[in-house]
Amino acid sequence: MKRKKDYYYKLAKKSGYKSRAAFKLIQIDQRFYIIHEGNTVLDLGASPGGWSQVARELVGDKGRVIAVDIKPVRVPGVEFVRGDVFLKETIEKIAERVEKVDVIISDMSPKISGVKSWDHARSIELAERAMEIAHIFLKIRGHMVIKVFQGDMLKNLVKKLKGEFELVKVHKPHASKSSSSEVYIVCKRYVGANLNSMGDRDHHGPRDEENT
Ligand SMILES: C[S@@+](CC[C@H](N)C(=O)[O-])C[C@H]1O[C@@H](n2cnc3c(N)ncnc32)[C@H](O)[C@@H]1O
Repeated sequence: MKRKKDYYYKLAKKSGYKSRAAFKLIQIDQRFYIIHEGNTVLDLGASPGGWSQVARELVGDKGRVIAVDIKPVRVPGVEFVRGDVFLKETIEKIAERVEKVDVIISDMSPKISGVKSWDHARSIELAERAMEIAHIFLKIRGHMVIKVFQGDMLKNLVKKLKGEFELVKVHKPHASKSSSSEVYIVCKRYVGANLNSMGDRDHHGPRDEENT
């Protein structure tokens, strides 16, 4: 199907951003003040690189952006780790570069099947993996933004996040299409892992349906 060239798509082209998604992060940051100059930012599911470009602009020359994806990310000034976030070797590659980060942003999406409940469940898995990665890499008082597709498991995820961050808000930026069920969970001021709340999760291995 031919992609509808909407306002943000055209604006991204004009502004040199690699994706229209760049404006979602810009709008989230303008409202919640997530990324600051000098920060180190871990960008999960970063390809093609719109969010990494925005993060790079916000952190400036003293900051760092580490982009992670199965697919390539080519953004000047952005470090890239290629790999599946569910794999241990990907975590090890991140750990070779950083010990702790100030901010984690995750725009990770499963390969869309069109079956709402399935896509929701896969996006919850990705969000929970982002949470596990935060347990390893996020500094205390750091911030996180996670994309998730709405559905019945969202409430429980938000509850878990509320146990680990001082402020948790579910937000849909203007640049996110109203036809999409995606929302962004904005989490501020990490207080540390609440590992009891992760006990009901059993999936830790890579999945075979890799993402496009
Ligand atoms: C919506 S795109 C991200 C767009 C990006 N934020 C931008 O602004 O250009 C979602 C990305 O998540 C990545 N992704 C999905 N599952 C992943 C996984 N298990 N490990 C790493 N990346 C993953 C996909 O490869 C895809 O590039």
